[in-house]
Amino acid sequence: MDLSSIINELGEDRSLYFNTVAPPIAQASNFAFDKVADMEKVFADEMSGYVYSRGRNPTIDILRKKLAALDGAEDCLVLNSGAAAIFAGVLPFVSSGDHIVSVKEPYSWARKLFDLILPRFGITTTYVDGGTVDSWKNATQDNTKFYYLESPNSWNYAIQPIGEVATFAKSRGIVTMIDNSYCTPLYQPVIGMGIDLAMQTATKYIGGHSDTLGGVLTGSHALIKKIFDTEFLAIGSGLQPFNAWLLLRGLRTLPLRLQRVEASTQTVLAFLQQHPRVKNLLFPFDPTFPQHELARKQMKAALGLITIELDVPDRESVVRFCEALKHILMAVSWGGHESLVIPKCAGIPAADFDVSNPEHRWVRLYVGLEEPDYLINDLKQAFDAI
Ligand SMILES: Cc1ncc(COP(=O)(O)O)c(C=O)c1O
Repeated sequence: MDLSSIINELGEDRSLYFNTVAPPIAQASNFAFDKVADMEKVFADEMSGYVYSRGRNPTIDILRKKLAALDGAEDCLVLNSGAAAIFAGVLPFVSSGDHIVSVKEPYSWARKLFDLILPRFGITTTYVDGGTVDSWKNATQDNTKFYYLESPNSWNYAIQPIGEVATFAKSRGIVTMIDNSYCTPLYQPVIGMGIDLAMQTATKYIGGHSDTLGGVLTGSHALIKKIFDTEFLAIGSGLQPFNAWLLLRGLRTLPLRLQRVEASTQTVLAFLQQHPRVKNLLFPFDPTFPQHELARKQMKAALGLITIELDVPDRESVVRFCEALKHILMAVSWGGHESLVIPKCAGIPAADFDVSNPEHRWVRLYVGLEEPDYLINDLKQAFDAI
């Protein structure tokens, strides 16, 4: 389906709501029935209609249709955060005694699910480098039921050969899920590459304005219905109608914003590449990036996030750099209009800081929608302040 048609038309029937161009927010917890038979039908299958907004809601349904189509998937669920989407996406497919293979260092709350929550129910996880299909094959056991990928990772941009891993998993009846937040389906159509469940934190590029959280799961109707009927309704962490409206508004400009972020990232990257205070840079399309060939093969673009290894003698210099920035905010997250930095050392106790460890000198930059020169000037003066 045409991208413009998905973004501007799909799922919207304006004749139902006075021809308003923007859809209304169906801010309702529950829905009334005229006939017992209709109620009976929805009670038998809550996915078949509107009964209670923990299940389905008309504003959220518009978003679901668009997000499913963007991924080329049959169906979609939208949750209140990306973390909730990870939880609801993994749990229905594993039981006590099962085994998961995950790429090492997935997003922190995926890792906590695998390390802290699932072991309590007898579900174990093996972490793999993930850069070759063999690393997945070698870790697979008879009881392996689930593969968890995140490609690229949002700090070190580690990449997995998505199609090959998905093909092998299918041959073993293993369900695959990927965190595709970095690329979005516009730049990496993972469902078409054979992945069963695509996850995105909608908090990032889909929302795009740093004013709502959200999490997306797309896949076949059968898998999405399995999730809906169990964990989705039980956790009760579906999106709220107003947040769905914000995400719909974000979607209207998603392609445009991604283009802008991609172009500005190139300009900022070129500045960083020649700066003497930059010892090393991590960026998937950079020729020095170890997996850049695989990155170029399966991603249509690399954008937004750049990890900078500062050439500095101590922690204080990293702190001075980050605190000297006047426009680029120091904050978690990414994908919004505003450029951001996070120093890795903020998550490391000061006493454990080891200047010989390059990661301790990492600062992750997210390039937002500002003029690239405005950002470069800000970075310049922060480098000078070191
Ligand atoms: C790569 C990645 N995946 C998942 C998440 C979780 O999303 P949320 O914050 O919407 O729960 C994040 C959040 O930062 C993330 O960066």
